[in-house]
Amino acid sequence: MTSLKSVIIGTGSYLPENIVTNEKLAETVDTSHDWIVERTGIHQRHFVTEGQTTSDLAAEAAKEAMEIANLKPNDIDLIIVATASPDYTFPSCATRVQHKIGNTNGLAFDVAGACAGYLVALNVADSFLRLKKAKRALVIGSEVFSKLLDMSDRSTCVLFGDGAGAVILEAQDDSQNPNGRGLIGVDMQSDGSTFNILHADGGPSTTGKTGKIRMVGKEVFKHAVTKLTASAESTLKKYNVSPEDLDWLIPHQANIRIIEGMRRKLKLDEDKVIVTVPKHANTSAASIPLALHDAVMAGKIKKGDLILHEAIGGGLIWGSALLRF
Ligand code: ACO
Repeated sequence: MTSLKSVIIGTGSYLPENIVTNEKLAETVDTSHDWIVERTGIHQRHFVTEGQTTSDLAAEAAKEAMEIANLKPNDIDLIIVATASPDYTFPSCATRVQHKIGNTNGLAFDVAGACAGYLVALNVADSFLRLKKAKRALVIGSEVFSKLLDMSDRSTCVLFGDGAGAVILEAQDDSQNPNGRGLIGVDMQSDGSTFNILHADGGPSTTGKTGKIRMVGKEVFKHAVTKLTASAESTLKKYNVSPEDLDWLIPHQANIRIIEGMRRKLKLDEDKVIVTVPKHANTSAASIPLALHDAVMAGKIKKGDLILHEAIGGGLIWGSALLRF
């Protein structure tokens, strides 16, 4: 029996031109380059300038992915944007992107999985493709978290940046995909009882305003390392893959210490981990596709490489995904 797989046929990214270094931030925030680097690994972040929106970033990343995949806008029939910072309360950011890239025949919607949103979007797209409800899916993580920052809260405002990353997935059967490329599996879970340790303190039905990020950093840190390790181990076990079989770990880029904690628990070599947090900071749902595209363009990741992703975000919601690129 032939099986359908969701294969990545193009990647893209976009970062706003405005780079804000730790030193620049320290001109207005009571912090220092050394504190930020020591606790997080972050050296700089990109922030949008006036008028730039989440869908603008997403559309640029999408255009690059379409160019690499050699596709026209209407070759895509599903557009999913993972974001916690959409342009408007409604309609979805994805419909804004659909219009901006000139797609007129697809279904576009957003998913809300905070920093784990890209994995949720990947999971949903894979279900559409393997159930033959779509043929080609554009999956984007895009965020303008700079607008959700309380610049008087130094424990959060130094952590985040803006950006977008995109992938295009195509449903391919065994004859088109003899080497078994594609998404192998996604493991995800959430726990709504942990709302208080990471959330934005507003929304349409509460304050009527967007709100700002509130976080109990130490608690998030503890949950991140234990939950991500458990999910990664469960995914590897389910598909009978040992950590040494992996070519790459591409984690959510929240904090170098969380990434390092994961790497040690999985006993992975340092050179198998893609790290972009020093230059991008935490771009929430955009961080994994941004890091993936970065590594593809750097010539590190090649067709056929076995990749593990992992991410955790406000909810809490967390998980891992295994794929052959
Ligand atoms: N600059 C200088 N000093 C600071 C800053 C800052 N930006 N922020 C806090 N401090 C001070 C605090 O006031 C405190 O001072 P005190 O000892 O005089 O009271 C001291 O530094 C230590 O503060 P802590 O909050 O205990 O610092 P901690 O070591 O926990 O590091 C951090 C904070 C980096 C947020 C850490 O908890 C962490 O990495 N948590 C993980 C959360 C995360 O990465 N979240 C991202 C979003 S969620 C996600 O994507 C997974």
